[in-house]
Amino acid sequence: MRRQLMLKALLGLAFMGLLLLLVDQQWSSWISSMYLWSSSQKTPTEDPLDLSSRKFEAQAEIRHPLDLRYPYPYPFLINHPDKCEGPRGAPFLLMLVMTQPQNVWVRQVIRETWGNETLVPGVVIFCLFVLGLPQPLFAQELQVLLEREDRKHGDLLQVGLLDTYRNLTLKVLMGLEWMAQYCPTAQYVLKVDSDVFLNPRYLVQKVLQPNGPLRPDFITGHIYRNTAPMRRQGHKWYMPPELYSHDKYPDYCAGPGYVMSGSLALRILSVAQRVKALYLEDVFVGLCLKYLGVKPTPAPRNTFFTYQKKYDRCTFHRLVLVHHFQHQEILQIWPDFLIASTTC
Ligand SMILES: *[C@@H]1O[C@H](CO)[C@@H](O)[C@H](O)[C@H]1NC(C)=O
Ligand SMILES: *[C@@H]1O[C@H](CO)[C@@H](O)[C@H](O)[C@H]1NC(C)=O
Repeated sequence: MRRQLMLKALLGLAFMGLLLLLVDQQWSSWISSMYLWSSSQKTPTEDPLDLSSRKFEAQAEIRHPLDLRYPYPYPFLINHPDKCEGPRGAPFLLMLVMTQPQNVWVRQVIRETWGNETLVPGVVIFCLFVLGLPQPLFAQELQVLLEREDRKHGDLLQVGLLDTYRNLTLKVLMGLEWMAQYCPTAQYVLKVDSDVFLNPRYLVQKVLQPNGPLRPDFITGHIYRNTAPMRRQGHKWYMPPELYSHDKYPDYCAGPGYVMSGSLALRILSVAQRVKALYLEDVFVGLCLKYLGVKPTPAPRNTFFTYQKKYDRCTFHRLVLVHHFQHQEILQIWPDFLIASTTC
């Protein structure tokens, strides 16, 4: 199963690389960049991740395979430190979209649809894509593409850790670290996955309400209550008792999309420095909330959907998020969805 997935991913990557090469016809610049890469690799001082010493560290202690190294000074390899100091000022809503490095097209679709920063009039929204390091095999080629993509759009935030499902918590925490360091006055922060349909207008106007009162303890989404850890080994969400021994998880907001006030985001981050990180990112945020004594606020009824839902213009006009939407589908429904504001 995993092998097949790997193979598919590799084939996809190879195909994408080839396509881009054919389209852009930049053979020579590509070849010269390859040489640049291999020459810079030989000088250990230029290793931005200091991998050699960390490898040594990892050998020095035996860790559980699901154990996460946090807190840890993961670097930002692609960064936009000044994003929040631009002419538009600090955002009302900072969207941190979790994507994988190779998903170039998914990001492009999101930019042209729900990630468009000017979609909601009168409100400053920033959309940043958080990604980690690609799998080693195609990493050098992909890195060149990522840097090019970022030069064009200026919206990637690349963190120096391997981008895997099991490392998602680290990616989210690094997104919050970015906010704490470069954008601490963002009023709200949305963590969102890339396989969703999102309606930023409804989120901003009906749920967050730009003219409403400040809500320092606010976090909402689809709330899971009283769920139990999955103890069946091999399951995607398997939680070994050694890492989490209680029978129940605390209440938490489902991972595909949850939104919190900026001040709560900062407090979650600060408590996360002391609570042992779990690889299930949404559960872990729930755990931090428990330590903070904060309960998730229920969202308006029928606005966050964790299961698939068939598209209907006026229904989607009045909801925030639907999980399990592929980018092709979003691209397809988007023109129709845009006329909802005048027809529903
Ligand atoms: C975002 O929307 C504006 C109109 O509100 C449009 O002019 C712009 O081209 C869109 N951006 C992208 C990347 O599609
Ligand atoms: C998480 O990222 C770290 C740092 O890149 C890496 O060493 C580790 O193997 C990754 N863990 C998983 C489970 O992918």
